[in-house]
Amino acid sequence: MSVKGYPDELRYSIDRVNNSRRARLGTEFPRLTPQEKTNLLAAFHPDYRVESKRELRVGPNRGERVPRELADLLEGKSWIDPERFHPDRVDYETDVLVIGGGGAGCTASLLACEQGARVVLATKLRLGDSNTIMAEGGIAAATEREDSPMLHYLDTVGGGRYENVPELVEALVLDAPLVVEWLEDLGVVFDRRPDGSILTHAPGGHCRRRSHSCKDLTGLEIMRVLRDEVRNKNIEVMEFCAVVELLLDENGNCSGAVLYNFDNQEYLVVRAGAVILTTGGMGRLHINGFPTSNHYGATADGLVVSYRAGAPLLYVDAVQYHPTGVVWPDQMLGYLITEALRAHGAHLVNARGERFINELETRDAVASAIIRECREGRGVRTPTGTEGVWLDTPMIDITGGQGKMMHQFTGICKRFARYDIDVSVDPILVYPTQHYQNGGVKHDARGRTAVPGLFVAGEVGGGVHGRNRLGANSLVDIFVFGRRAGAAAAVYAREVRPGRLTLDHVRRFHRELREAGIDRPVTSPLLIPDYLDAGHKARQYDGGGAIG
Ligand code: FUM
Repeated sequence: MSVKGYPDELRYSIDRVNNSRRARLGTEFPRLTPQEKTNLLAAFHPDYRVESKRELRVGPNRGERVPRELADLLEGKSWIDPERFHPDRVDYETDVLVIGGGGAGCTASLLACEQGARVVLATKLRLGDSNTIMAEGGIAAATEREDSPMLHYLDTVGGGRYENVPELVEALVLDAPLVVEWLEDLGVVFDRRPDGSILTHAPGGHCRRRSHSCKDLTGLEIMRVLRDEVRNKNIEVMEFCAVVELLLDENGNCSGAVLYNFDNQEYLVVRAGAVILTTGGMGRLHINGFPTSNHYGATADGLVVSYRAGAPLLYVDAVQYHPTGVVWPDQMLGYLITEALRAHGAHLVNARGERFINELETRDAVASAIIRECREGRGVRTPTGTEGVWLDTPMIDITGGQGKMMHQFTGICKRFARYDIDVSVDPILVYPTQHYQNGGVKHDARGRTAVPGLFVAGEVGGGVHGRNRLGANSLVDIFVFGRRAGAAAAVYAREVRPGRLTLDHVRRFHRELREAGIDRPVTSPLLIPDYLDAGHKARQYDGGGAIG
């Protein structure tokens, strides 16, 4: 259905937003008490929906409950038959193999290279195709005078429901200011105030302004610079090469990977002293039927191959639904509307024109409140059967001065302009969208996993964010742990001599599947989401059953 502008059916509701604006101006919605937040999450957050998860029957996390969509892939069988595929025919040899071409992958490659390692970077799509390049809001670091890494630490742990791994949070907040400096030195142009100092804002859950942005195209600007840097360092980049299996040597050390080359449909064997997985998250699994803000390649591949190799996962049952994904127009369903808009003053308003949550509560709470409004009949229904609440974007110009919206949120304004919607004049209809994998492969502060020689960085890793990541903490995670893993893997690779490459772990995993009675497993990793399969169609979730 081709739609231009807002249809008449939504105009009446937009009038309510306009009419209630004056009364809302200058007011602050009360914060939730800890008990109110706990109750809100328990009642409306999709993570708390028991039937959306099931127990894993095999692998290092056997007995734990994870989202069904992920469980199927973790209990999948390999694309390759370990009885017939012999990894001794090596196609590429390197010190460090980095798998994933987003911010974490580029950063890890650069740091490994800086340590003198030979680096191969393999990526499923093109270099840069990733969630990083789509990042809007910014990167968190305590750089302002009134801020400190300690406050950043406390906010991060509070947001993560106190389940974050302390040594990882410590690394995150201490390295964060250095990372911002590193990016600036490489050439990233952050937003600045008229006096030349870097402009910062406070996303939900942060008690200080500490998110550094490049308008609402922060990831695009950062990847522009990192991609150039990778090319400048002559790092070997293999595009359209997806990981299908890790390779271990006879001592159980991770010593390479089998890649599938989409261009010529061939499997390639890469032998490496160390492997760094930077494959990102799982938005394209559409957990609970949610739409997603993620790029096309976010299919949990890194979780699947590391799980099969024996690496435990942490908190993969905790999924982040960003509160403000687009509902209208349909063509933009799930597209991210940055939290920075709320940090700059945009209100969330229900169908009655009422605010219903402090916009700067943590994402899990704001998303739950939106789901509550819709479930309890205060949502706005669209002509195509979807539902949402309004994000009152015209407030940005009203409070920040004429033209502020277009100046600071150019990317969003331009995207809506394609549908004849001027979001500095009209609000945006929003509903939560699957945005982030809060957990991932368990690792330490140097990115080391339980499998020697296997490192992780970025969204594929788990622990630093606990059960709920704060806004702007993902870009900083990517660079902090990308740098740490890159350097540590290079040092590790210098000291090991990989032995004979084997797929014994796959053989063992297949046996485990059989013994658990899983006789018709799917083939995984997924690699490419299958939108022809009705099972993967994005729907909307209303907190109890699927609608729309
Ligand atoms: O709202 C946002 O701009 C998202 C930022 C993030 O996920 O860190």
